[in-house]
Amino acid sequence: MAIDMRELGRTGMKVTSCCLGTMTWGTQNSEAEGHAQMDYALERGVNFWDTAEMYSIPPAAETQGNTERIIGSWLAKNPGRRGDIVLATKIAGRSKMLWTREEDVEWTRHTREQIDEAVEKSLERLRTDYIDLYQLHWPDRPVPLFGRKVSAREYAIDYEPFEAILEHLQRHIEAGRIRHVGVSNETPYGVMRFLAEAEAKGLPRMESIQNVYNLVSRKYEEGLDEITMRERVSLLAYSPLAQGYLTGKYRNGALPQGSRKQLFERLQRYESLQGQAAIESYLRLADELEVDPSALAIRFCDTRPFTTSTIIGATSMDQLQTCIDAFDLEWSEEIEQRIEELHTAQPSPCP
Ligand SMILES: NC(=O)c1ccc[n+]([C@@H]2O[C@H](COP(=O)([O-])OP(=O)(O)OC[C@H]3O[C@@H](n4cnc5c(N)ncnc54)[C@H](OP(=O)(O)O)[C@@H]3O)[C@@H](O)[C@H]2O)c1
Repeated sequence: MAIDMRELGRTGMKVTSCCLGTMTWGTQNSEAEGHAQMDYALERGVNFWDTAEMYSIPPAAETQGNTERIIGSWLAKNPGRRGDIVLATKIAGRSKMLWTREEDVEWTRHTREQIDEAVEKSLERLRTDYIDLYQLHWPDRPVPLFGRKVSAREYAIDYEPFEAILEHLQRHIEAGRIRHVGVSNETPYGVMRFLAEAEAKGLPRMESIQNVYNLVSRKYEEGLDEITMRERVSLLAYSPLAQGYLTGKYRNGALPQGSRKQLFERLQRYESLQGQAAIESYLRLADELEVDPSALAIRFCDTRPFTTSTIIGATSMDQLQTCIDAFDLEWSEEIEQRIEELHTAQPSPCP
């Protein structure tokens, strides 16, 4: 089965089952490399692209907005192609990345003023007049995420009410600047509160959930999967390769020059003993089945009934080709069963 088109939430808008991730463009990758990736992705029929106001990664004042600028310069170079692409971007949630805002603020937040500023700046950098999917990168409220717990004191902190956030977004939908909205790094509580407010008050519906999901990080299946299946809110699965770990590139302590781990040392999520053991077991399975481990990992995400699109990321054209080819891997009953056995032995060891 190759890349296909799937409906995003209940929007009627179709996106490709492969989404082009962009967060390395502007730090790890140059503008020319980003442009080459977009050209190639389109040639291969990948029409769904994901970015964020915060990118490129790792987050820094000097590089913030670079990725959107690179997409913007590609759009300017390719007049008439905007309609061929479903473009998703995101507003930062509560954080101390204060360089993201022009006004003097204490936190980046999802207040009306900050959403207005963020939408306007993203449109300017992207050089377009509309965003197909506008996502809240992470919530305005403190939430348990990436293995981090929320203290009782943090739970007491005021946050922008769900209803108010939807109202702020609605103004941009009505003005034609945004077509649809979604969440990212959200919890079941947050998604259901947004859906309930939308239904009760006729506000915009969150149509997608962009969360981490891969062979060794399957917390999505503890509640969010049910929301997807019953409410038709799409999963957009990020980090399908566990940031490179599931390719096997870091096996036996290897540290390839120019890899994310070598450059940024930011892969802690996957470095617990249990995480490492589980990663190794999936790499062995790929060896045994004689399939590319990247294809096994990506196609696993793609074949889940709750996945609408799997967001790939690549820092070279070879990697991009491998990631896109992964969608052609034939999925068998045997692969499914073998993965299930490993998963039962070590369910979701990574946060
Ligand atoms: N919403 C969020 O909070 C969030 C968080 C993370 C990502 N995302 C989105 O999801 C996209 C993908 O995330 P991700 O980059 O973490 O995905 P990933 O698929 O887990 O990791 C991609 C990285 O793995 C390495 N890689 C890819 N293919 C390879 C291959 N064939 N052989 C060896 N190495 C390979 C590359 O890094 P190196 O070459 O540097 O090793 C590449 O950048 C991002 O661009 C972004 O759009 C969203």
